[in-house]
Amino acid sequence: MKIAIYGLGYVGLTATACLTAEGHSVVGVDVSEKKVRETNAGLSPIKEPGLEELLKKAVDAGLLRCVTDGSDHLRDSDMAIVCVGTPSGPDGSHNMSYIAEVSRQIAASIESGRKQPLTVVYRSTIRPGTTEELIRPIFESTVRGDAGKLFELVYNPEFLRESTAIEDYFHPPKIVVGTHDGLPNARMDELHKNLDAKVFYTQYREAEITKFVDNSFHAVKVAFANEIGRVCMQLGISARKVHEIFISDRKLNISPYYLRPGGAFGGSCLPKDVRALQFIAADVGAHSRLIDSLLRSNDAHKHFLFEHVTTGLAPGASVLMLGLAFKNDSDDLRESPKVDMARKLLSAGFALSVYDPHLEPDHLVGQNLGYTFLHLPTLPKLLVSAEKIAATHYDVVVDMNGMAGALTLDCDRFVDLNCLQ
Ligand SMILES: NC(=O)c1ccc[n+]([C@@H]2O[C@H](COP(=O)([O-])OP(=O)(O)OC[C@H]3O[C@@H](n4cnc5c(N)ncnc54)[C@H](O)[C@@H]3O)[C@@H](O)[C@H]2O)c1
Repeated sequence: MKIAIYGLGYVGLTATACLTAEGHSVVGVDVSEKKVRETNAGLSPIKEPGLEELLKKAVDAGLLRCVTDGSDHLRDSDMAIVCVGTPSGPDGSHNMSYIAEVSRQIAASIESGRKQPLTVVYRSTIRPGTTEELIRPIFESTVRGDAGKLFELVYNPEFLRESTAIEDYFHPPKIVVGTHDGLPNARMDELHKNLDAKVFYTQYREAEITKFVDNSFHAVKVAFANEIGRVCMQLGISARKVHEIFISDRKLNISPYYLRPGGAFGGSCLPKDVRALQFIAADVGAHSRLIDSLLRSNDAHKHFLFEHVTTGLAPGASVLMLGLAFKNDSDDLRESPKVDMARKLLSAGFALSVYDPHLEPDHLVGQNLGYTFLHLPTLPKLLVSAEKIAATHYDVVVDMNGMAGALTLDCDRFVDLNCLQ
């Protein structure tokens, strides 16, 4: 393909080097004359292992030319890839001025006589909604002619890490492609045909938020690891050994487990042990801000779920909750977030029924019984059977534990809190 790459920074130069190595012909565009001059001389303006060698080969093979103004080069390009910077603004949001300016430049250079639409691919990290609310309006108001036939917009986040950028480009952890309808795109398939990674086609916003989610999770991991490290060091425990043991657990620790957006955490262990670790960390002066925030974050989530279920619901409305124990196939109610939901619903004046086939109030013992008696003394009156449910109409059914599949339900609204949609 003939590709124009806008922005010759870490992302743009890596794409330039790797795409020319695959045989594509690239025009690199950057406002920096120095970067353009150096790249045209086969020199890398940035330090990145393996980059300069690939750039030199591309220049020698006639596959790469760099310019400060790309307008004359889009005529015979199939694709434009935008890799300009999106640095932090004073309020912390991304500064979108380079994205806006480069979009205007590309849109203004699209000729009305094009036979095939120009595929304009954004690789910069941009806030969800940017493609639809900033980029598309710029194109639609600037392009002369039938917008639908002259260009197509794609969002394709980049996952490379500096210092291993070339290796990461050819072996990405995944490929995410946002299109206006979430459907595959032939030019993007062609672009990625040599890469061995799972491809996710989705709509723009899911693709746009992917980098924010990934990078925030990486930040959470680093902060968490360091807080644990501080606690260990203060207690004279080997942080390195603890790390080795932690990451060896691929079933619960380094795994998809505990990462699905859905219910709050609860039960007899997580809240208790988090509280205790908070105490230990404070006691040894480890200042574990992330760990200290976990229970408050969980409470905020419980409140969010209650609002989500009851928004627009009149007091007195009938609500059926499926699942009350802290997880399915258990009768343990201790610190179950579902008990909190039931209490909130009752105190807000809703007519609550609860279905949980694993619960028999007469069989609850020990702390479990004490907790239930204290927090939900009317439990026996709330419980209903599958037969009763099949014969009743409810205003809302809330599935807390993924139990709906086995039941016959008649309701105005069904809310799945086991897995947020
Ligand atoms: N650096 C990374 O590891 C990395 C990884 C993934 C995603 N990203 C994202 O990719 C984007 C680019 O990051 P980067 O580190 O390559 O940025 P960078 O600052 O190194 O490079 C951006 C380049 O864009 C050029 N530019 C600005 N306006 C231009 C215009 N109108 N026309 C042509 N060129 C223009 C600048 O001169 C600069 O050379 C950012 O949104 C970043 O968040 C970066």
